[in-house]
Amino acid sequence: MGGGIAQVVAASGRRVSLHDPYPGAVDRGLAAMRKSLARLDADVDATLALVGPVDDLVAADLMIEAIVEDPAAKEELFRRADAVLPPEAILASNTSSIPITSLAAATGRPDRVVGMHFFNPVPVLNLVEVIRGLETSDETAAAILELARDLGKTPAEARDLPGFVSNRILMPFINEAAYALLEGVATPEDIDTIAKLGFAHPMGPLALADLIGLDTCVAIMDVLHEGLGDPKYAPCPLLRQYAQAGRLGRKSGRGFHDYT
Ligand SMILES: NC(=O)c1ccc[n+]([C@@H]2O[C@H](COP(=O)([O-])OP(=O)(O)OC[C@H]3O[C@@H](n4cnc5c(N)ncnc54)[C@H](O)[C@@H]3O)[C@@H](O)[C@H]2O)c1
Repeated sequence: MGGGIAQVVAASGRRVSLHDPYPGAVDRGLAAMRKSLARLDADVDATLALVGPVDDLVAADLMIEAIVEDPAAKEELFRRADAVLPPEAILASNTSSIPITSLAAATGRPDRVVGMHFFNPVPVLNLVEVIRGLETSDETAAAILELARDLGKTPAEARDLPGFVSNRILMPFINEAAYALLEGVATPEDIDTIAKLGFAHPMGPLALADLIGLDTCVAIMDVLHEGLGDPKYAPCPLLRQYAQAGRLGRKSGRGFHDYT
């Protein structure tokens, strides 16, 4: 997601610094961007010239955080970003489900913290869900809505409640598909065919879970379950077991479907 976001921001003519502390992650992101830009017939070299890998957080007008869906890791990053980025900078999160208000509380600028939730694949899907935390200012929300439009996206606003709108609807759908598989109602292929052809979805829920990452799906279900307190949001045991086994979906080569 970080690479996809960097790509669309650079494609709008803005300079982007790309940071990921894990070896090889930035290079993988750059390679994916190169492929995606070529497919979109964009000017690959000119766009990539605007993307600079950096070893740590740097001073910038805006941070868009897209690290693992782990509240403690994100809060720590927001704490560090608050110390490194200038006081007027906006700190945005691409989180799928972690409360923006709690990320804001880790900083001394809760009015300048906001959710900017892109969809996968970022260069292709045009929605940006914009989430205001409890203290997000009108100016911050307006700046992010304007940026989203400037990136060629359509923004829609959601309140800071678990899962916002998109994952409050999507994740129970994926979770129910995992239950259908667990209970032997149908094969993964048939579950996805039924959703694809029956509901005119571009891909079935299990293939979509594989694209999102099964670890991310479990993390989001956990947030919905804990935040809304309703057992209907508990992650399906099969989803959790696949994630525990390292069957994370496309990124590991295998999830509900096999990509090897
Ligand atoms: N996958 C999706 O479809 C999707 C869609 C919308 C939003 N999101 C959200 O985007 C975020 C990232 O998801 P993803 O699917 O790209 O995950 P991913 O696991 O593919 O990538 C996460 C990256 O974060 C890096 N990272 C981990 N800890 C870090 C730290 N402390 N500082 C900097 N980098 C760190 C990892 O090295 C990895 O490259 C999550 O919050 C997720 O909920 C994902």
